[in-house]
Amino acid sequence: MSQTDSSTRIARVFCGTFVHSTPSAALQILENCVLGVNDKGKIAFIDKDSDVDSLSKTWGFDTAEIIKLEQYEFFMPGLVDTHIHASQYSYSGTALDLPLLEWLNTYTFPVEARYKDLDFANNVYTKVVKRTLKNGTTTACYFATIHRDASLLLGELADKFGQRALVGKVCMDCNSEVPHYRESPDECKEETDRFIIELLKKEYPRVKPVVTPRFALSCSPSLLSELGEIANNNKLHIQSHISENKQEVDLVKELFPDCKSYTDVYLKHNLLTDKTVMAHGCHLTDEELKIFHEKGVAISHCPNSNISICSGLLNVRNVLNHKVKLGLGTDVAGGYSPSILDAIRRALDTSKALTIQDPKHQTLTFEEVFRLATLGGSEALSLDDQIGNFVVGKDFDALRVNVCVPGGPIDLFPGEGTKVILEKFLNLGDDRNIAEVYVAGKRVVPFLHA
Ligand code: GUN
Ligand code: ZN
Repeated sequence: MSQTDSSTRIARVFCGTFVHSTPSAALQILENCVLGVNDKGKIAFIDKDSDVDSLSKTWGFDTAEIIKLEQYEFFMPGLVDTHIHASQYSYSGTALDLPLLEWLNTYTFPVEARYKDLDFANNVYTKVVKRTLKNGTTTACYFATIHRDASLLLGELADKFGQRALVGKVCMDCNSEVPHYRESPDECKEETDRFIIELLKKEYPRVKPVVTPRFALSCSPSLLSELGEIANNNKLHIQSHISENKQEVDLVKELFPDCKSYTDVYLKHNLLTDKTVMAHGCHLTDEELKIFHEKGVAISHCPNSNISICSGLLNVRNVLNHKVKLGLGTDVAGGYSPSILDAIRRALDTSKALTIQDPKHQTLTFEEVFRLATLGGSEALSLDDQIGNFVVGKDFDALRVNVCVPGGPIDLFPGEGTKVILEKFLNLGDDRNIAEVYVAGKRVVPFLHA
């Protein structure tokens, strides 16, 4: 690319410390670097700051305009939430006393039914988009509800506040004990078609539809097949839940006696592609993980939810050993926290609990979990050609972290280097430390409007 190419005008240049992951390094620390973002929001260059004079000539920017990070500040890639129910945000932090299937009928379906009311939807969806952005979620893969209009509204709000998002209108035509919260198969197919067409017609640059069968127990075989066809015909993302809780796995076996496993149910209905992300997977067998690998299907690891509603402990090490893509998810409101920083901590706790059970288990390191929260999430959503780390040509989705904010949650001591400072942020930090959030080069936090 040359500077005469109008598409590469440099919009912003940052100077300081950058931390990110690559496929071969869970943590790479780049100190004394300059990073240029072009006017399309893409990373144009990342180099040592000693080269700044020649870079400014090559790229035609004024060195006086470089934004210099303060001491104890760094940039890291934006956090990716690979599984969050925007519609459950209103009761996050509550209702964690029942196992999955009772939890759905008692708390979840009655609340989700309320999204027929667009004022209710607007209030909750505005709050969840803003809350997750403030906590550094630059990309979210959302479940909405069965309602087309409210699901479209979620897409509109993500676009308005500048969050990258996949938005799913939920599909479910059976086994809901809440009579006003289920669809007929025909209605579901028609509404899904219209949702996809209408969302694509908006041409939001970073908000796209995702085909969303709730899970095998909520969908008839014919609905699963229709959804597989819609996704494959339009090359769309797919999201659902799998093997979250043992009672659920047993019921799936009963309801789909012709299928060899839970994974086989989705396989037979053409729902397993390299754009599929399945939440939980706590009880998947190695045979099933092999199918995930072969098909390029990803797992969204939702450790807060897995513990909060007593579903199971996912062995991430085993998943990674099977070369299955894996990202982190909050799974609000089964998970009580909307923050991926919390998911990082719960993922480490879960891994340590597995080590307590079996000392031979190889505990995840904080660097590995940092990668899962960023690059891993981008791979799980098949967006790693666009986001996930600071590679030239990718979009600049990033957090400007300041570990030393006045009144903040972190104390530093002499001699602590970048690696320790990052570890402290991941374990102790919160939104007070996230000074700015960028999505595709645009600053989206602090918010322009209150
Ligand atoms: N399985 C089917 N629906 C849901 C849901 O809303 N939350 C969780 N955690 N699991 C599910
Ligand atoms: Zn979920």
